[in-house]
This record gives sequence, C-alpha cells and structure tokens, in this order.
Amino acid sequence: MNLMLLGAPGAGKGTQAAKLIEAYGLVHISTGDILRAAAANKTPLGIAAKGYMDRGELVPDMVVIGLVKARLQEPDAAHGFILDGFPRTVVQADALSKALDELGKRLDAVISIDVDKRALVERLTARRACRSCGAIYNVMSQPQTASGVCPACGGELYQRDDDTVATVTNRLKVYEESTAPLIAYYRDKGILHEVDGNRPVDEVFASIRRVLEGSAR
Ligand code: AP5
Repeated sequence: MNLMLLGAPGAGKGTQAAKLIEAYGLVHISTGDILRAAAANKTPLGIAAKGYMDRGELVPDMVVIGLVKARLQEPDAAHGFILDGFPRTVVQADALSKALDELGKRLDAVISIDVDKRALVERLTARRACRSCGAIYNVMSQPQTASGVCPACGGELYQRDDDTVATVTNRLKVYEESTAPLIAYYRDKGILHEVDGNRPVDEVFASIRRVLEGSAR
C-alpha cells in the first residue's frame, strides 16, 4: 500500500504516520525529517535547507524532488510507503506522478487531514519531539512531557526551531498558497479521502483505517 498524508503544518501527519507504520509496516518518507537530519549533520544540503525551514518557507522544488525520487528507489520502499510532507506544490505533485510511473508504482490513497487554523497554532507551539526515538508529544495535552524527558525512551525532548509563533504563521500562509491546491489536484484524480483531524488522535486514526480498508485494491 502506497499512501500520502496531506495537511497543514500541525494537522497530525507525523503522529498518524507513526500509527500507520505500526499497523501496516510501511516505510515513512518525510521530507521534513530528511531535511532536519541533513541540517543536524551540517551537510551542504542541510545548511542550505535550514535557512528556508527557519523562515517557514519551502525548500526549492528541485531539491526535494531529487531527495524523494532517490528515496523511492531504495529497496524498502518496494513494500509500501507513506509520503508525509511531500508533495507540497503542484510542480512536486507532477514530478511525483512521473517518478511513480517510471518506477511502475502508484498511489493507493491520499489522506487529507483537516484541522481548524487556531488549533494548528496551539498544537505546533506546544509540540516537543524526542531526539532519540523521534516520538512526538504535546506539552499542553501531555503535561508529563514538561520535564523534557521522553516517556517512551528517556531521551531528550526538544522544540523544533520552526515552531515559534512567527515561523508557524508563515508556514500556515505558505501552506494555503502552495499546498492547499493539492486537495483539488488529488480529488480530481479520484484518490483523495478527507478526514476530520479536529478529534483525538485515536479517533482520527480509526477514520483513516476505515478509509484504507474501504479503498484497498
Ligand atoms: P515538515 O516537517 O513536513 O512540517 P509540516 O508539514 O509543517 O508538518 P509538521 O511536522 O509541523 O506537522 P504534522 O502535521 O506532522 O503534525 P504532528 O503530527 O507533528 O516540514 C518542515 C519544513 O521543511 C517546511 O516548512 C519546509 O521548509 C521544509 N519542507 C519539508 N518538506 C518540503 C517539501 N516537500 N518541499 C519544500 N520544503 C519542504 O503534530 C503536531 C502537534 O499536534 C504535536 O504536538 C502532536 O502531539 C499534536 N497532535 C497531533 N494530532 C493531534 C490530535 N488529533 N489532537 C491533538 N493534538 C494532536
């Protein structure tokens, strides 16, 4: 099964991807995670990308398209993948379509997670991630994480550099301008499924599972 998670910053794409990986054993292809790892390792790509990310702007299309094309060709992606944070523009979506055709693969479903804008800002500014295991938390709804220690593995929790109010505001603007048009793009292709993300994590996940079980081919 090959899936794509679409949604604004903070909609819960990473949270739902973790649950989908556990349930279906899919490979997680998150352009945000790939770019953050490159930035942490101070590779030339990472150094170039960090400036865009810290401003809440998109990294240039050609850079991320190249990354995803290479990742899709790795052997583990043959058994099913989840695209998270890619594509983000129509140019990226067209490039993905071409790359999948060339590889003889197809997308089975695009899940669009819809969340109210006010909740997005609250979620992002309260997000913490674990440096060791990558688990995602929210200090407002999970106050046990306020100590800065990961409840799952004891690793250090940190706040992403782009989760400040100013950067989040720009990320949401960029989403509306560049990425939201992809909802209509995939609706026209007949593979879009819209899920209400304004509910607890497990309820959102149950809806996604129902969609996947209904659309399994
Ligand atoms: P990326 O890392 O992809 O960030 P994003 O799309 O902005 O999405 P987020 O990771 O912020 O949110 P999410 O939807 O995964 O939410 P999460 O599950 O963490 O991209 C970062 C940057 O990299 C971009 O700005 C850009 O610069 C660059 N980039 C990446 N891809 C690119 C591309 N293709 N092209 C160009 N540039 C690219 O949840 C958020 C919080 O909410 C957490 O605290 C979580 O615990 C909580 N939460 C989740 N679900 C729920 C729920 N149902 N109820 C309550 N709280 C919830």
